[in-house]
Amino acid sequence: MAMFFPGESHTFSEYLLVPGYSSSECIPANVSLKTPLVRFKRGEESAINLNIPMVSAIMQSVSGPDMAVSLATEGGLSFIYGSQTPEQEAAMVKAVKDHKAGFVESDSTLTPDMTMEQVMALKERTGHSTMPVTDDGSSRGRLLGIVTSRDYRPSRDDHSKKVSEFMTPREKLIVGDKDITLKKANDVIWDNKLNALPVVDDNDHLVGIVFRKDYDSHKSNPNEMLDANKRYMVGAGINTRDYATRVPLLVEAGADVLCIDSSEGFSEWQKRTIEWIRANYGESVRVGAGNVVDADGFRFLADCGADFVKVGIGGGSICITRETKGIGRGQATALIDVCRARDEYFEETGIYVPVCSDGGIVYDYHMTLALAMGADFMMLGRYFARFDESPTERVNVNGQYMKEYWGEGSARARNWQRYDLGGAQKLAFVEGVDSYVPYAGSLKDGVNATLYKIKSTMCNCGALTIKELQDKARLTLVSSTSIVEGGAHDVVVKDSQQTVSYN
Ligand code: IMP
Repeated sequence: MAMFFPGESHTFSEYLLVPGYSSSECIPANVSLKTPLVRFKRGEESAINLNIPMVSAIMQSVSGPDMAVSLATEGGLSFIYGSQTPEQEAAMVKAVKDHKAGFVESDSTLTPDMTMEQVMALKERTGHSTMPVTDDGSSRGRLLGIVTSRDYRPSRDDHSKKVSEFMTPREKLIVGDKDITLKKANDVIWDNKLNALPVVDDNDHLVGIVFRKDYDSHKSNPNEMLDANKRYMVGAGINTRDYATRVPLLVEAGADVLCIDSSEGFSEWQKRTIEWIRANYGESVRVGAGNVVDADGFRFLADCGADFVKVGIGGGSICITRETKGIGRGQATALIDVCRARDEYFEETGIYVPVCSDGGIVYDYHMTLALAMGADFMMLGRYFARFDESPTERVNVNGQYMKEYWGEGSARARNWQRYDLGGAQKLAFVEGVDSYVPYAGSLKDGVNATLYKIKSTMCNCGALTIKELQDKARLTLVSSTSIVEGGAHDVVVKDSQQTVSYN
């Protein structure tokens, strides 16, 4: 007879936090969101702590180098997607490690014979108004000039006008040389009242651009995730097939932590992968594993030596695993079960294995719930896909800006290794969809708004740290009728985008 789990499995939206006593100390400014990323022994500190409890999903449509740099700037970590060749993935990791804070590689570069029409289309697509002009249109070409929105007037000018006719030409540009420090670049920007300083090498080839706003934001990012050499930290996804080739390349490129990316992690394949890493690198290479949805799966991966364990099957926004295969578990119930197992494991062995809640976070408050239920951090796909920094195009769909977002198990990603059960057949059926998500602007603004909400809810619960939240949180299941009560109801909402404040 099969084993039946007692009770139903629930998801985040079925829970609410009940406020606890908050002292006058409990204000968002006093809240720390620092949280462990990898396993540690009782009485010791985790070798890697996140400064905010967010990591970006191991997905083509989410985690490329731009996402990794931006998220590390805010205090989180990206896992570069593994559904590309080991060489390509290692190159992305290296791009993050080589990134000089404040020096931006141009992703909107022009040639002199492009038209104003094309410039406007590029601006529309990327949202960037400062565009360098190079001989071959590449971000590393010879610098010929720069175009900003001050150089042309779409309402007056002929749209077929060539870039060479309205750009600010090279001879009129102030540039920095390739060895310039960020501090010096900022001085030049400041002294000359510039918005951007192109940086060139000895052959006058573009190396990067320093924007005034980037330097300012650099100074105001105390949460940055930096390694011992002051480089941004970055993670990378691996699979249970080609690890012997992939892992060495990722380690050499400088990946700070790895994670086995699989839809189902309670398997011998994961054990073998972790064993191979331990045999070749000992504890020096950190690797998370998953995904699991119950205590047995957690204990198995913890015993295998996983540095953290990811929880979640079937809850992802683009995921159709539950529909196609009938496997999974409500994310909240899975998380609670696994976190209980983690605490028991800690009691028994003195080893704390952080738990990551992966998938199914829709509202910001779901993150607070996940933390209160015991998660050490969250992996987010849809949430990050909406921002400028995700690798996908911003598109206009029926007058609304959207970003593309597709699952790793979709026909578009063809990430068969993620769903691999060892046979020869590659991606026999899809487990994910290709979709749009509403565009949400810059990661920095979005993440900061979310963090503020998390911190203020923590204060309502009388908690100044994630650990305190986990110890003090009081949660209640809600009935379907009270879920209706939770939204605006029995009124005619004037403008659904409008936020009303009662200060
Ligand atoms: P989201 O934050 O709800 O969008 O979920 C993201 C998570 O969904 C990822 O971190 C993966 O664990 C999972 N995922 C990614 N691609 C697929 C897919 O194609 N099918 C099922 N799950 C997926």
